[in-house]
Amino acid sequence: MLNIALPKGRLGENVYAMFAKAGFECPAVLENSRKLIFDNEAAGVRYFWVKPSDVAIYVERGAADVGVVGKDILLEYRPDVYELLDMNVGRCRMAVAAPEGFRDNPDRTLRVATKFTRIARDYYASIGRDIDIIHLNGSIEIAPILGLSDVIVDIVETGSTLRENHLAVIEEIVPISARLIANKSGFKFKTQAIEKLTEGIRKEVRDA
Ligand code: PRP
Repeated sequence: MLNIALPKGRLGENVYAMFAKAGFECPAVLENSRKLIFDNEAAGVRYFWVKPSDVAIYVERGAADVGVVGKDILLEYRPDVYELLDMNVGRCRMAVAAPEGFRDNPDRTLRVATKFTRIARDYYASIGRDIDIIHLNGSIEIAPILGLSDVIVDIVETGSTLRENHLAVIEEIVPISARLIANKSGFKFKTQAIEKLTEGIRKEVRDA
């Protein structure tokens, strides 16, 4: 049995559809219930829904053999897992945004609000800019509006959250998409099953 951690929400539903098309279906997964774990013994799969930011924890610790996680989580937390495949869904970008008309003053430490402190630190270290990190857990966009920070580092998908808050992207840091990941020792013991799954999904990605 392959244990598969899916990220709860719209991305998870799209991703499940790819697994199902690849031959690993389990229709109960889409039932509108509060249940979180679903088996299909015939297909050899057990799915469970977890918070998107927790998928990598389940996989790293072996509670799930495989899972689907955003590249942002892999860059931020660097879990010790195998990254098997770019699923080419959940596409967005990690970017620096600031109030419209913002000009950086290089003589001052830049105040950066973000959920992604490692990604932000790595980015500013790479360009040699001194920063003060302000770690927030959500609604990052309001930080520069209220003067808590100069800029933000956050995920931008359609850009509408930024526009509605009169912010604009000033630097792109890295493109993001969903990745299929595997537990390292699980991969050793269930190599065949995991490779079969990966190849099935790879085909779905190619034909999408
Ligand atoms: C993300 C991100 C932005 C928004 C960007 O938040 O933090 O707020 O999406 O999307 P857009 O460019 O399409 O407007 P998410 O909805 O994931 O929730 P969060 O605030 O809990 O991170």
